[in-house]
Amino acid sequence: MGYRTHTNGELRAENIGETVTLSGWVQKIRDKGFMIWVDLRDRYGITQLIFDEERTSKDVMEIASGLGREFVIQVKGDVIERESKNPNMNTGDIEILVSEIEVLNASLTPPFTIEKETDGGEDLRMKYRYLDIRRAPVRNNLMFRHKVTMAVRNYLSDKDFIEVETPYLIKSTPEGARDFIVPSRMNEGQFYALPQSPQTFKQLLMVGGMDKYFQIVKCFRDEDLRADRQPEFTQIDCEMAFVEQEDILQTFEGLTRHLLKEINGVTVDEFPRMTYDEAMRKYGNDKPDIRFGMEFGELNEVAQHKDFNVFNSAELVVGIAIPGGNEYSRKDIDKLIDWVKRPQVGAKGMVYVRCNDDGSYKSSVDKFYDEEDLAKWAKKTGAKAGDLICVLSGDASQTRAQLSALRMEMATRLGLRKSDEFAPLWVIDFPLLEWDEETERYHAMHHPFTSPKPGQMELLKNDPGAVKANAYDLVLNGNEIGGGSIRIFDKEIQSKMFDYLGFTKEEAKAQFGFLMDAFQYGAPPHGGIAFGLDRLVAILGGQETIRDFIAFPKNNAGRDVMIDAPAVLDEEQLEELHLKVTAQP
Ligand code: AMO
Repeated sequence: MGYRTHTNGELRAENIGETVTLSGWVQKIRDKGFMIWVDLRDRYGITQLIFDEERTSKDVMEIASGLGREFVIQVKGDVIERESKNPNMNTGDIEILVSEIEVLNASLTPPFTIEKETDGGEDLRMKYRYLDIRRAPVRNNLMFRHKVTMAVRNYLSDKDFIEVETPYLIKSTPEGARDFIVPSRMNEGQFYALPQSPQTFKQLLMVGGMDKYFQIVKCFRDEDLRADRQPEFTQIDCEMAFVEQEDILQTFEGLTRHLLKEINGVTVDEFPRMTYDEAMRKYGNDKPDIRFGMEFGELNEVAQHKDFNVFNSAELVVGIAIPGGNEYSRKDIDKLIDWVKRPQVGAKGMVYVRCNDDGSYKSSVDKFYDEEDLAKWAKKTGAKAGDLICVLSGDASQTRAQLSALRMEMATRLGLRKSDEFAPLWVIDFPLLEWDEETERYHAMHHPFTSPKPGQMELLKNDPGAVKANAYDLVLNGNEIGGGSIRIFDKEIQSKMFDYLGFTKEEAKAQFGFLMDAFQYGAPPHGGIAFGLDRLVAILGGQETIRDFIAFPKNNAGRDVMIDAPAVLDEEQLEELHLKVTAQP
């Protein structure tokens, strides 16, 4: 006899009368002395066991009364009808009258309750992640991730994409973050880097004629962590040969539609496209959440040249209308002002206008603006009676970022970010280059292999900041779930690009000689995209914290608190890796 004839999610009224064997964990015990009920749990569900003095042998009764939470047991018994049925459980019509029991393994009392709502804090649950995984919400998230991953694999495979594995021990590929470094034992003083993405390899696969590649692949980036960032995360990495931007957008719109349909049962009509410039102007953000309005209204024209110097000296005066915001008390508004002044947001202050129901306006700057002025503000921000207009001003890009933070915060407070509503958006025409204040030079905004939009190569010489890239991001509900570009496939152009990015010829050759060499042997035009699988899964699952969809995530300090990594190495290991630090005299 095996450990089980059925899982704990399987038995129904039809099974009444059968003798079954079940195995699993003890979730809950109710012990009345003469009668003991045990909830037995596994991945598939929970089945109620009953031990009854009158019908169960004394030995079995005794073992049952000694059980504790999370003991692993095996039982044999008859499926019987439950007296008080539980319509909330799949197995709620039946229970098992146990005749045999074996404790397969005892358990210490778990440090937190293994229930849907647990009493365990984040740190404790991370330390005992294997116990957390027993909880339905975490388990369901992992199962959900599997379902999404399978749907992706099947879809891409059906569309002729070939999954190819690329190496993890490589040398650094600049993609904006820092690399994780692995010392080489066999090559003293030399280091591998873990890939931030398989970017150059997938391009080489195109040179190799693979035509359509994908890989569900771990990527490593040593960057500061946030709710939507982990130091190791997974991409659905894709590349195609003989394609233009339109081909890529169509193909991956197809994948996204398929996933929304298959996983969420949602049909999305439109995948709107918006240029980067428009996204920044309208939403102050290159990944706008378009499930709701609150579009920015630029007010320079109607708010400057009065006597209000704060606005007069600002590069940008910009506002949003908060629906129903006129209901806020003075105190509520003061709190909102404090919120935008928090260092995380960084606004210096906020001007507001109440849009009264009778069509009149009352602002915090009434001294400088009359009703006629404020009516113009209302028009620009789309404010209606009952709304509150919030206005920020200052340096254009900072002010946009601040107002974007306020827009998202207010949408969350107003319940406008509905997790079962999906609004994808392509953001296109990104700038090719981004000025970096620190290093005082241009950096590739996407990566250095991205081609400029057709016909813009010449512009690179005279006005590099104005050049648009043949790059695109896929945004879903205000999250960047994917990004990619059409690549440079000509050696000369790639080499010029490295020049513009401030690489010397020697540096470019040392770091990317292999790619430019490959481009000399018939590289096809190509382009691709990579989705962040963790983010995609979280958003399809109606959440935004990717940690909850990763089996063994790192905490905010980049630590795995369960295995306690990173950790120090012993002297011998350090020596072998040529990393031993000798004390300085
Ligand atoms: P990019 O850097 O935009 O592009 O990354 C692609 C997608 O990966 C996800 N992502 C992350 N998810 C979790 N944690 C992180 N630290 C993290 N960083 C990125 C995002 C992002 O959209 N090689 C290019 C793709 C290409 O050009 O084809 C690349 O890696 O969802």
